[in-house]
Amino acid sequence: MMISDKKKTIMSGIQPTGVFSLGNYIGAIKNWKKLQEDYKCLYFIANLHSLTVRMDPEKLKKLTLDCVAMLLACGVDVEKSLVFIQSQVPEHSQLSWVLQCYTQFGELSRMTQFKDKSLKNSDNINAGLFGYPVLMAADILIYQSDFVPIGADQKQHLEITRDIANRFNNLYGQTFKLPQPYVSELGDRVMSLADPTSKMSKSDKNKNGFISILDPPDDIINKFKKAVTDSEARIYYSPDKPGISNLLAIYSALSDLGVEEVERKFESKGYGDFKVAVGELVAKTLAPIQDQYYHLVKDRGELARICEKGAEVASEMARKTLRSVYEKLGIL
Ligand code: TRP
Repeated sequence: MMISDKKKTIMSGIQPTGVFSLGNYIGAIKNWKKLQEDYKCLYFIANLHSLTVRMDPEKLKKLTLDCVAMLLACGVDVEKSLVFIQSQVPEHSQLSWVLQCYTQFGELSRMTQFKDKSLKNSDNINAGLFGYPVLMAADILIYQSDFVPIGADQKQHLEITRDIANRFNNLYGQTFKLPQPYVSELGDRVMSLADPTSKMSKSDKNKNGFISILDPPDDIINKFKKAVTDSEARIYYSPDKPGISNLLAIYSALSDLGVEEVERKFESKGYGDFKVAVGELVAKTLAPIQDQYYHLVKDRGELARICEKGAEVASEMARKTLRSVYEKLGIL
């Protein structure tokens, strides 16, 4: 594969914690597909980050390759983008150790995700959970990435990445490029269908709140029929109408119509009809992705080969940065 050096570099990762949600698809993966046309893209499965919470090893192994199949099914093209598994490029972990020595206890203590996760996993507040943002900084900085497409919940992690890079550059001279967040024009928050004031989450206990990209069409349409909305019957986007606004945003993202155009399209319709229409559009969008996924996921050997090839190229890029870092620090 040829990756042109003139293009700007985009990199992003996703944890192999389960089947992607509609939120992952609209907020992230759908854009990953688009970005690979204009950027040099590196997409990886952040399996080392998943060790920060306990996970069954067999399940982790299976999900890692399943996620690769999901990425490809969603349109990530290995002829255009590098796809790999974090653990297969050891330079990430190596740089992470170095960067830990340039990250302060105080700044990691202030990370809101660390605070949230410590509350949720109060019996296992391990050092990996604490150092999570540093490994993420290493993921990003090691490729001299220009842009990182991330959701709002990861913005603070990108800020600390820039802080660490700046600190290192100030001490040892220009070493790392400062990455910028890539903000998609679509916005990145798909909300729960059961509680439109909270983000759609894979771990939602209420199964009706959450659409997985592998949900069968009937389930999808039923979940949309049950979507929580307000009692007024007119369809328009407003902060006072989080349920309908969420449905409008989903329809808009998948139809490539602006929200106002969607409002106009459903001007004379009631909530019931609109919910079915959104459900049908989601089901129709996901159908070919599901077909592709079930086809790709069977060939574990091929998925493993794709990742190994990706890791080889990624590793070569990563080694350059690591070597210059070691040199500057006197690490033999
Ligand atoms: N922390 C990210 C998440 O949970 C995943 C991730 C790990 C990542 N390393 C990254 C995202 C580097 C972007 C760049 O969503």
